[in-house]
Amino acid sequence: MNIQIDKDWWKDIFDEVYLQTDARSVCDESLTCQEVDFLEQALDLNSDQDVPILDMCGGQGRHALELAKRGFTNVTVLDYSEYLVGVGKKAAQAHDFDIHFIRGDARNTGLAGDAFQFVLVMGSSFGYFVNEAENKGVLNEAYRMLRPDGAALLDLPDRDYVLENFKAVSQHKANEDIEVRRTRSLKDEVLYSRETVFSEKNGPVRDKTYCTRLYSPEAISDLIYSAGFSA
Ligand SMILES: C[S@@+](CC[C@H](N)C(=O)[O-])C[C@H]1O[C@@H](n2cnc3c(N)ncnc32)[C@H](O)[C@@H]1O
Repeated sequence: MNIQIDKDWWKDIFDEVYLQTDARSVCDESLTCQEVDFLEQALDLNSDQDVPILDMCGGQGRHALELAKRGFTNVTVLDYSEYLVGVGKKAAQAHDFDIHFIRGDARNTGLAGDAFQFVLVMGSSFGYFVNEAENKGVLNEAYRMLRPDGAALLDLPDRDYVLENFKAVSQHKANEDIEVRRTRSLKDEVLYSRETVFSEKNGPVRDKTYCTRLYSPEAISDLIYSAGFSA
């Protein structure tokens, strides 16, 4: 099966429907807490709560909000989705958290260079371009925004796990009303998906395609080093 994608698919899929179809990962507070526990440990964040952190492709800012809840005072979220940035801003205001939410493209953010100690790319938000040079563009931009002694953290799907557990078709109920069906195909290390969403109350909600590049540890290391990073 050949799944055709529009190269700009990522510009309009991350909306209110996404927050339902992907709720079991991106609206699960206990999962977000576990992920932020991991960040605190892996990056030794607790030595300085004013450390500047950029949550790149941060969506509605679930990690940023949890970091702010834990006392981090200098967190920025950059995301292309106007809808998710709006949701995040409202949540931050409701909790009186001073998080900077910025709408922009991760390849060219317009943010200052050498500004962040940490750049996070969480929740499988990397590898959305079939053209690898554009994925590298995201890493180039992360590198440019980091302080010389800063670090980036990418949270990516485990390629081997995905391949071993590949399902050409899957279906789940996102909630009482919404059913999500995904068909998938793999080509040249890129996972292509077609997602159809059906509401019992309102009928068809959407039919969209998207893709994610899968990286072996070696492939992602090569790309990271080619963007200027060192271990
Ligand atoms: C799967 S969501 C994950 C969001 C968030 N990191 C999380 O874990 O909840 C991927 C996010 O990446 C954002 N995104 C994808 N490509 C982007 C780009 N080129 N520039 C900025 N944001 C982008 C989308 O708008 C979306 O919010």
